Amino acid sequence: MDLRLLEAEPSPEEREAIDALLGDAGERRDLLLPALQAAQARIGFVSEGALSHICRRLCIPPAEAYGVASFYALLALEPRPGRVLHVCDDIACRCSGANELCAELERTAGPPGNGGRPPNDAIWLRSPCLGLCERAPAAFLTVAGPAPMERSVAPVTAKIARALLAGETPPLEAARPIVPQSGDPALRLLARAGAIDPGSLDDYKAHGGYEALRQAFDLGPDGVLREVLDSKLSGRGGAAFPTGRKWEAVARQPVRPHYVVCNADESEPGTFKDRILMEGDPFAVLEAMTIAALATGCERGFIYVRGEYPLASARLEGAVREARNRGLLGSDVMGRGLAFDVELR
Ligand code: FES
Repeated sequence: MDLRLLEAEPSPEEREAIDALLGDAGERRDLLLPALQAAQARIGFVSEGALSHICRRLCIPPAEAYGVASFYALLALEPRPGRVLHVCDDIACRCSGANELCAELERTAGPPGNGGRPPNDAIWLRSPCLGLCERAPAAFLTVAGPAPMERSVAPVTAKIARALLAGETPPLEAARPIVPQSGDPALRLLARAGAIDPGSLDDYKAHGGYEALRQAFDLGPDGVLREVLDSKLSGRGGAAFPTGRKWEAVARQPVRPHYVVCNADESEPGTFKDRILMEGDPFAVLEAMTIAALATGCERGFIYVRGEYPLASARLEGAVREARNRGLLGSDVMGRGLAFDVELR
């Protein structure tokens, strides 16, 4: 490809962070977003030098990389302090006092984005929905550096926000997901959320986990497709497309490879249905993807998680690791001859 690269060079820290992520990767367009995130996590924004280095390493035109970098609200292309508090002022948070909170922050910590009064190595910014609407008002803290960090904080007050700007670090582990109906026997999809330890595969199995995959292997791909069609299961994204018809269409495609993509992005105010599942029942997401893979002939799956969901990402990462260790992902899932693995993005 004829690349017109930028002349800017990355700082040694940026180069180190990007190279550590990319390793020996060659023309891997799919690593663009993780590389941009690594650069920002190191110094707090994506500099022209970092963008240029990423483009050179991955053989990507700078215009394309810039398009991606400027699309995501969490990525910054201008220099800014390493500690940033994103304060949601979207509709659910407004109903819970976000406007008053922002006004008080303006009074006591300065306007959004200007570095504020001391500490001046931190800024706060107004943000669209952070997916924590049930605990509004919400905030999201990102800290760049050699040991970068991200934390969700909700509900947040002006006092908590000022403490976060001053350097306080909240724990990653929040309370168990809030499901008001937790324990109600009528719950199906959320039956385990809030009721099990989301980090324990044994707890998941003790509550029926991986029974469905066992049955799916016994049914075989065609049997699974029939069951899903007959169940009239539909997508949860709003269009209510029949899941069985979607899976059947993929299964029949002669072109290979096939992929399962779990779109766990959600950003409309009031929408956090995926977060509750990922935080409260992460192995269920993996088991369901594995059943979809069996039915449709996929060898790889991707889960696309919002950057605003550090706890969901951590729990899914833990679940993927554990499932691999226990033969529930990998080259021979459950010893039944299925090769399937999952990557988080
Ligand atoms: S509207 Fe603020 S977290 Fe959703």
